[in-house]
Amino acid sequence: MRFDIALLPGDGVGPEVTAEAVKVLEAVGKRFHHQFSFNQGDIGGIAIDHHGVALTGDTLNMCQRCDAVLLGAVGGPKWDDPRAKVRPEDGLLALRKGLRLFANLRPVKVLPMLIDSTTIKPDVIKGVDLVVVRELTGGLYFGKPKRQWQTARGRKAVDTLAYSEKEIERILRVGFELARSRRKRLASVDKANVLESSRLWRQIAIELSIHYPDVELQHLLVDACAMRLIQRPSEFDVIVTENMFGDILTDEASMLAGSMGMLPSASLAGIPKAGEKTFGMYEPIHGSAPRRAGQNIANPIAMITSVAMMLRYSFALAEEAEAIEGAVSDVLEEGYRTYDIMEEGKKQIGTREMGDLIAGRMG
Ligand code: IPM
Ligand code: MG
Repeated sequence: MRFDIALLPGDGVGPEVTAEAVKVLEAVGKRFHHQFSFNQGDIGGIAIDHHGVALTGDTLNMCQRCDAVLLGAVGGPKWDDPRAKVRPEDGLLALRKGLRLFANLRPVKVLPMLIDSTTIKPDVIKGVDLVVVRELTGGLYFGKPKRQWQTARGRKAVDTLAYSEKEIERILRVGFELARSRRKRLASVDKANVLESSRLWRQIAIELSIHYPDVELQHLLVDACAMRLIQRPSEFDVIVTENMFGDILTDEASMLAGSMGMLPSASLAGIPKAGEKTFGMYEPIHGSAPRRAGQNIANPIAMITSVAMMLRYSFALAEEAEAIEGAVSDVLEEGYRTYDIMEEGKKQIGTREMGDLIAGRMG
């Protein structure tokens, strides 16, 4: 089969990890007889440098014409001035909104061979296998009014946390469906003791749960969830939450897996179903790591497992996705590590070497 992929390498280590993802995809294509064609575009800081905006209309259109989007990372100190008119992150937000990618899946799985490379006690993280479903096109990120202004008594600013019933329902459905395909436990995370939008969220979760009698629904306040994530993380199966809560909780959850360099993500425009194709964008959850850029040290695994998610959700190629995940496990099992997950007695290698080894296992 033939698939068109939009490639947006972005800034910092983005292009380096993207190159390894392409390498692995080409190996998958050879072994399973698929043809992947790539359409490259600018996103983030590099787009600001080239075009004056973080995402051009042409690039957005190009992404819309493809079967899926693969994104490296955006941002860097060069574009960080808080007074700047355009910032790299705007490109990412415009893509999420423009492509209607409302469902962000962030799986956190602790691989047995990396259990000692985290800062948390092995006993606590043993067996952790959870997915955070983060709402991605609503809430504080996009709510209006959103502005800063001058008053007689100083400056003021406002952001708005707004959600419609439709937006809440569709993301909760993703959570319920995913839980149904896994261990059937869903934690709906809100701040219903304070926020009106959370009270609506919780009501809709209760209403929907009637259609999912096989899924055990639990409501959790976001502060309690933050605590439970480091106290007893292995109890979680699927967590579903609004945009900003999900942003914060997934950085926390990522530390369970040892390194941000290990975690992939999928941002989908629909409710994923086994064997069906859902349009989506795939990216590692780590940032552009500007201090690591250009040195061949960044861990490409998050980007490579993001490719596995792309194969699974957007191309309905489950076997190929598993082949990639298996190759990653094999290479780690053999003791190869990038700097971020390095431990004594292991073999430290660079970005390209890690990509070569994983691609090599596909042959
Ligand atoms: C993420 C990032 C982004 C977000 C930034 C870069 C805008 O932190 O994907 O988690 O806040 O959504
Ligand atoms: Mg974040």
